[in-house]
Amino acid sequence: MDEAFEKRLPKPSDLKAMTEASLKAAFAGESQAAEKYLVFAEQAEDEGFPNVAKLFRAISFAETRHARNHLRTMKGIHATADNLRVACEGESFEIDEMYPAYQEIAKVQGNPQAGRSVRYALKAEMDHKWMYAQSRETVLAGKDIEDKRVSVCLICGHTVIGDLPDKCPVCAAAKEYYRTF
Ligand SMILES: [Fe+2]
Ligand SMILES: [Fe+2]
Repeated sequence: MDEAFEKRLPKPSDLKAMTEASLKAAFAGESQAAEKYLVFAEQAEDEGFPNVAKLFRAISFAETRHARNHLRTMKGIHATADNLRVACEGESFEIDEMYPAYQEIAKVQGNPQAGRSVRYALKAEMDHKWMYAQSRETVLAGKDIEDKRVSVCLICGHTVIGDLPDKCPVCAAAKEYYRTF
């Protein structure tokens, strides 16, 4: 990031509890709005409104700027080894606490579609946690991770480094359904 650009951004700061809580809530809200608008843009495109789709995409991007500023101000951005630790802890929470509990709720309340959505996420988070943990080891040793392709199933979010499976092991989608980075 160049210096002139960085100078105009709000700076990482020590925040009082209420200020921090409000920025945290705003970060969550802006992040959600950004994703929602991207989905709405796809919908607008499918309905033949490309310019509405463009507006949704642009405003989604604006919301990401807001989310980033909030995250930066509450000191949420660290050096990469620490970012990998934070990412790993987030995935762990989802695996160990959040999604197993949500899975039970979906079961108790008899909603198999919610159960499926939760199961897709839970499976992927397990891989994510491992990928972040491995990467952190490498970064702590002062190296970047290997240059391999990383692919994601468009249906369920299954994430794989290197060669693609013939079909997704989580949702059984064909390999054409993966997006590669
Ligand atoms: Fe994840
Ligand atoms: Fe899948």
